[in-house]
Amino acid sequence: MAAQINPSILSADFARLADEAKAVEGADWLHVDVMDNHFVPNLTLGVPVVESLARATGTPLDCHLMIEDPDRWAPQYVEAGASSVTFHVEAAAAPVRLAREIRAKGARASMALKPATPVEPYEDLLPELDMVLIMTVEPGFGGQSFLDIMLPKIRRTRELIGKHGLPIWLQVDGGVSAATIERCADAGADVFVAGSAVYGADDPAEAVRALRARAESATAEATWACDH
Ligand code: DX5
Ligand code: ZN
Repeated sequence: MAAQINPSILSADFARLADEAKAVEGADWLHVDVMDNHFVPNLTLGVPVVESLARATGTPLDCHLMIEDPDRWAPQYVEAGASSVTFHVEAAAAPVRLAREIRAKGARASMALKPATPVEPYEDLLPELDMVLIMTVEPGFGGQSFLDIMLPKIRRTRELIGKHGLPIWLQVDGGVSAATIERCADAGADVFVAGSAVYGADDPAEAVRALRARAESATAEATWACDH
């Protein structure tokens, strides 16, 4: 699968979200960070904003829920128009039931892991998922430095996906930039969230193209991609 680049609107101008979505029209998805000031120490936006954004852009929405009680809230983001919904497994009471509900409502179901959460205990859940998100910073804020120590976890997750022969996407989020994206692609990521590296650039659409080119050339060299 080709590398996908998902600009995070956390680094965009929240008063001009429709324009900011348009500024990255070549992107595969728009990454929407939902924070509730409980699961993470920051507060962003909720269902009504996602509903409006879904109407305002043709780019599919990839909602990353950094919230408590995703079991209750995640299905509402599908109804609001998200095409992919990611819940944090640390916050989910019943992740299998939740993933099934997200899929039944018609969206891709994705599970996120904070940096200190290992992937191995969740191996048996993989068939229920369309994507796994490995956080490469502590969730809560844009503009943080990439955590290199997450690279082995990206590799192990790609191995587990390969072992089960599942068509699961592997997303990385946090500190992804021109300086770090190749290491992520080499380790096994194929979906790349970038906030400050896209919206902090003079030309966000060009930043998306440049990130994609780097990711694709690193993937072409990567051993995990040759096994497919
Ligand atoms: C952080 C969010 C990220 C954030 C990434 O908790 O989940 O999506 O926007 O921002 P950068 O790319 O600037 O690290
Ligand atoms: Zn995110």
